[in-house]
Amino acid sequence: MPEDNDNPYLVSCSAPVNIAVIKYWGKRDEDLILPINSSLSVTLHQDQLKTTTTVAVSRLFKEDRLWLNGKEEDITHPRLQSCLREIRRLARKRRNDGNPDSAGLSHKVHICSVNNFPTAAGLASSAAGFACLVYSLAQAFGVEGDLSGIARQGSGSACRSMYGGFVEWKMGSREDGKDSVAQQVEPESHWPELRILVLVASAKRKPIGSTSGMQTSVQTSLLLKHRAESVVPRRMDEMTEAIRRKDFPAFAELTMKDSNQFHASCLDTYPPIFYLSSVSQQVIHLVHRYNRHYGETRVAYSFDAGPNAVIFTSQQHVPEFVQVVQHFFPPDANGEDFIKGLPVTDAVLSEEL
Ligand code: ADP
Ligand code: DP6
Ligand code: CO
Repeated sequence: MPEDNDNPYLVSCSAPVNIAVIKYWGKRDEDLILPINSSLSVTLHQDQLKTTTTVAVSRLFKEDRLWLNGKEEDITHPRLQSCLREIRRLARKRRNDGNPDSAGLSHKVHICSVNNFPTAAGLASSAAGFACLVYSLAQAFGVEGDLSGIARQGSGSACRSMYGGFVEWKMGSREDGKDSVAQQVEPESHWPELRILVLVASAKRKPIGSTSGMQTSVQTSLLLKHRAESVVPRRMDEMTEAIRRKDFPAFAELTMKDSNQFHASCLDTYPPIFYLSSVSQQVIHLVHRYNRHYGETRVAYSFDAGPNAVIFTSQQHVPEFVQVVQHFFPPDANGEDFIKGLPVTDAVLSEEL
C-alpha cells in the first residue's frame, strides 16, 4: 500500500452469496466459529446477489469504522474485530518476511459495504458480507492465500463464499480451528446447465438471527445432535458424488431432504423456531406436485433461515417452471417486476410473493 500522500488508499471488491445444499446449523466453538458438522454449498455468480465493499486506508484516520448499507455499525463487534485482527496479523507476518507491499499496518480503515439484496432476511447476507470484508481487507493490506479460515470467524457460512462453484466447509477436528476451512469441490464450469432461482417471499429481517437461533438449537434439539453426528457425514459423501456425476435427481432429493431436516431441527428447538412461512410451504408443495406431474425430479427447493425459496433446476426447465410460479404467485398489485433473472446462475427475484 503506497504511503506517500494524504489521500486514502482505496480498494473495492464484490463477493456473491452461497446457498448451502447441506446446511450448517450449530457451533462447537462460538468464538472461533467452529461448526458441529461439515456443509456444502453452491456459490452464485458474482453479478447476482452480492456484497460490494470499499476499504479506505489512511494515516489520517483516527479509528477503524464500518458502514453497512449506508448506516454506521459498531466496529467493536467481536466478529469484525477478529477479521481485522487476523488480516493485520498476516500482513505483519508478510512484512517480517521481507515483503514491502504491506506498509501502513498501523493505519486505520474506513469500510463501506452494500448488499444488493435484503440483509438478514435468510438470503446469506452474512456470507457475502464477511467474505467480501475479508477479501477487500486482504487486498488493501497485500495479504494472499486461503482466507476462508478468517472469513469463517466473521460468519461461518462466509468461508464458503471465498470460492466459486461447489464448495465444502470441512468441520475440521483441531481445537484451534486451523483445519476448519472451505475447499472447492467442483468449479462452476463443471455443471453449466444447473440454474438457481431465488423467490423472495419476504425481504424483512428474520425475527431470530442465525447465530442465536443455532445456539438455542444446539442447547435443546436432540434431532440436531442426531443430524450432525449420524446424518450429515453420509450426506456429505452422497452429495459430493451426486455433484461429481451431475446427477440432478440425486442432488435434488438430498438438497430438499437436508433443507427439510434443518427446518425440522428448528421446530425441534425449544422454544421452537419457525423460519418457513405459509408461502414457503406452498412453494414446497408446488415443487413436489410439479415433479410428480412429470414423474421425475426436475426441480428442488432449499430454504435458509428465512421464508425465501432457492430453487435448483436445469436450464431447460427454467421457462416452464417460472411460468408455473407466476401462475400461482402472480406479480403484486404494484406491478412489481417479478423476474430479474439469475445463476450458478439465473435468479428470479420478486418483492412479496
Ligand atoms: P443472513 O441470512 O442474511 O445471512 P444473518 O442473521 O446470518 O442473516 O446475518 C445478518 C447479519 O450479518 C447482519 O445483521 C450484519 O451484522 C451482518 N452482515 C450482513 N451483511 C453484511 C455486510 N455486507 N458487511 C458486514 N456485515 C454484514
Ligand atoms: C441456515 O453463517 O449466518 O444459512 O456463523 O452465526 O454467522 P453465523 O451463522 P450463519 O448461518 C448460516 C445458516 C444457514 C445454513 C448455511 O448457510 O449453511
Ligand atoms: Co447468515
